[in-house]
Amino acid sequence: MTTDAQFIAGLPKAELHLHIEGSLEPELMFALARRNRITLPFASVEAVRAAYAFSNLQDFLDIYYQGAGVLLTEQDFHDLAMAYFRRVSADGCRHVELFFDPQTHTDRGLPFSVAIDGLLAGMAEAQASLGITSKLILCFLRHLDEDAAFATLKAATPYLGQIAGVGLDSSELGHPPSKFARVYREARARGLKLVAHAGEEGPPEYVWEALDVLGVDRIDHGNRALEDQGLITRLAGSGMTLTVCPLSNLKLCVVDDLKAHPLKRMLDLGIHATINSDDPAYFGGYLGENWTQTAKALKLSRAELVTLARNSFAGSFLTPAEVATHLAAIDAYAVANP
Ligand code: HPA
Ligand code: ZN
Repeated sequence: MTTDAQFIAGLPKAELHLHIEGSLEPELMFALARRNRITLPFASVEAVRAAYAFSNLQDFLDIYYQGAGVLLTEQDFHDLAMAYFRRVSADGCRHVELFFDPQTHTDRGLPFSVAIDGLLAGMAEAQASLGITSKLILCFLRHLDEDAAFATLKAATPYLGQIAGVGLDSSELGHPPSKFARVYREARARGLKLVAHAGEEGPPEYVWEALDVLGVDRIDHGNRALEDQGLITRLAGSGMTLTVCPLSNLKLCVVDDLKAHPLKRMLDLGIHATINSDDPAYFGGYLGENWTQTAKALKLSRAELVTLARNSFAGSFLTPAEVATHLAAIDAYAVANP
């Protein structure tokens, strides 16, 4: 009998909620600062890590946007992506749908092409050298206005063939999904998939808006949906995927204790939840750590772990044939590793 950690490591998994800028480890932050002759407001890697004590989402975002300031060249974005893919490949991750925040970079003067060209190069290299597939999701910063989101979508026009979808991140409270109704309509018309962070700190109404006003294909986080019985029925009945991030929720005080995390309740309610890392360099764990710590805290069964792995591919933007191949691999693994 394998241990849960061994079982999880070998289980084919996808990651559907990963901000690539949130995978910037302090060591790489210092290396890039040196390479780009940037002075960081921290004396050491240890001092950076010590600053990662957050009491809410905004505390984290302030330091996260500051950290991204060391990313200046295509090579920097490529190296960032490859460091993430190498790390997560070791966790048994086979497919990633990664977010990037173009406005974080264009607003400090980088051309739109720098981040995306570097990331696409890293994604191609990861597929060739590690066999890990990936898709890119462009996130709009919700603390900025809808015109800025439209400008970002316009700048992305030459890349639309290489972007799977759009998302909505940054400060949730006070910035409801409905603020971006028109730009989401435009993104849909351009053939893009739609996702949005909702119900991380924001109320259940924001999850309703993401569903009914934006028409999203997936909800990122969604924790607070459980406060609304009608929403639970809607999510479970429609088979909507939630990209849940347990260690992120702990670090940002969305939950007090991993043992009280709503993931198991979501599964019990028939909601298609998945496990993801969000910003692993800041929240204390990559995909594998999220799985093992959550499995332990919530005493998840092997059957529940298999369901979570299946949900991660079923909720992805891979083709039905690709999804079927991954699901067959999960089922074969489960049979071989009872
Ligand atoms: N929530 C909202 N915005 C974000 C996050 C998050 O967890 N990570 C990076 N941007
Ligand atoms: Zn997120």
